[in-house]
Amino acid sequence: MGDSKAIVTNQDGIHEKLEEIVLKHIKHPFKKPYQQHTQDAFDKIDKVVQGFDGEIILDSCCGVGQSTRLLAKRNPKALVIGVDKSANRINRNVDELVNEDSCQKVDNFYLIRADLNDFYRLVLVAKWPVTQHYVLYPNPWPKSKHVKRRWHGSAVFPDMLKIGHTMILRSNWRLYLEEFSFAISLLKLTGEFSTVDDKEPLTPFEAKYRASGQECFQLTIKIK
Ligand SMILES: C[S@@+](CC[C@H](N)C(=O)[O-])C[C@H]1O[C@@H](n2cnc3c(N)ncnc32)[C@H](O)[C@@H]1O
Repeated sequence: MGDSKAIVTNQDGIHEKLEEIVLKHIKHPFKKPYQQHTQDAFDKIDKVVQGFDGEIILDSCCGVGQSTRLLAKRNPKALVIGVDKSANRINRNVDELVNEDSCQKVDNFYLIRADLNDFYRLVLVAKWPVTQHYVLYPNPWPKSKHVKRRWHGSAVFPDMLKIGHTMILRSNWRLYLEEFSFAISLLKLTGEFSTVDDKEPLTPFEAKYRASGQECFQLTIKIK
């Protein structure tokens, strides 16, 4: 058994300020200048994307990139791009892939170190043909005062929801997904809840939570 602790929060439901926060972000587009390191990383990968004739799968907050590799293996014709702001995680060697066919090499993926607060906006401007957008186990920020650090409380949220045809969001904190679902309703979008029961975990966090007996949840959002 794992020893991952269940989420503890001082909220007893959807954050009381969430509607106000999301509506403000919808009304006032996020215009903060891009950080240079993200712009540089984007420019390099954008050349690859523009020269690629096929679907792009975006794996946001990919951590060590286990999900990026698995998605690449499962979608051999797609180009899968994992993005994480942590150089340490991105550069960690992930030979620990726990998938049964992990010895099979795949090369249709890239791991990019970038801040998604900027990267999402650059993807939109460049009109990447993203089909699936994965956001697997984002940092929950469970304290009420940190609501704006959750993706649905961030200024880039409305832009994030313009990317891809389908968004797949997973968390071990159901309230995170409930808040996300409420936030997308303000963009006239809806999502479908399910419980994660994949035979093989898609990410190390998923493996850790499930080994600790925690339920993991998925919200699937049809964008286009
Ligand atoms: C809880 S970890 C989950 C990692 C992986 N998806 C998994 O399930 O194993 C959340 C990840 O989000 C990344 N992250 C948080 N904010 C980010 C941002 N603004 N831009 C890019 N990555 C971010 C962190 O560096 C961290 O690797």
